[in-house]
Amino acid sequence: MTFAHRHLLGIEQLRPDEITTILDLAEDYVTLNRGPNKHSDVLAGLTQINMFFENSTRTQASFELAGKRLGADVMNMAMQASSVKKGETLIDTALTLNAMHPDLLVVRHPHSGAVDLLAQKVNCAVLNAGDGRHEHPTQALLDALTIRRAKGRLHRLSIAICGDIAHSRVARSNIILLGKMENRIKLIGPPTLMPSEIEHFGVEVYDDMKEGLEDVDVVMMLRLQKERMDGGFIPSEREYYHRFGLDAEKLGHAKDDAIVMHPGPMNRGVEIDGDIADDINRSVIQEQVEMGVAVRMAAMDLLARNLKAGRA
Ligand code: NCD
Repeated sequence: MTFAHRHLLGIEQLRPDEITTILDLAEDYVTLNRGPNKHSDVLAGLTQINMFFENSTRTQASFELAGKRLGADVMNMAMQASSVKKGETLIDTALTLNAMHPDLLVVRHPHSGAVDLLAQKVNCAVLNAGDGRHEHPTQALLDALTIRRAKGRLHRLSIAICGDIAHSRVARSNIILLGKMENRIKLIGPPTLMPSEIEHFGVEVYDDMKEGLEDVDVVMMLRLQKERMDGGFIPSEREYYHRFGLDAEKLGHAKDDAIVMHPGPMNRGVEIDGDIADDINRSVIQEQVEMGVAVRMAAMDLLARNLKAGRA
């Protein structure tokens, strides 16, 4: 197994074989997590601090559970986004925490690049739990594991990523990961929610759901990130649902066995029909949550091995 990294900041820095290493190890943790004794001691004696400068339910809970199941001492810092003024404040916080000798720092921040900056200032391993519109590597990894388990492979699949691509770090990390694994990626959404120069990422762009969903194996829906919009991106939620919300009719254009994904939190009736989200024959949304814990255990395990060995 090769994974010579000190931090997990983005998918950008990972090679395909390193992605596979994380996913393979995560499979072992899926088994552990499904058993009666969910405990291992690979992080015993290590301190994990979760710093979330932006709201989170599942990601923070997932990292907390992952650390606890691996035996780490886990602390959650309640960081209010409003009390953080970027730059100096963030670095000061990092240095303060650094003085407490954490081994793993899990950070979510509203500004793209903030987690990379922080990683340069501390001597522990840093895991990016989402920075602005930039990256959300563990989300892309858990999505990849979910896809690999459902489809039996993670290459040469046709995958649609739909909705608010422009504001989505989930989309960005997934585009990078799925591209590295040689899949066909179709982005579907209104032109106002497409990042500029997206064609350079080796993807196809559509503004019509039926056209874009034709024969895809995977349909990944994204939340409308209203908190990152300053108005004018969509005419109305009703109109948006009509054109881009995933319903049975639009899903009918995908392959018969296409799976439906969503990173959560979901806006039912805005980007996805509630019945589709709950359809156990199509939706793997709950499985994504399950894979999240396993993938985070795998990532922290690998980083801790490097810490202990003084590698990377
Ligand atoms: C995503 C995020 O925070 O980037 N959520 C998550 O991590 N599960 C997506 C979102 O907020 O829409």
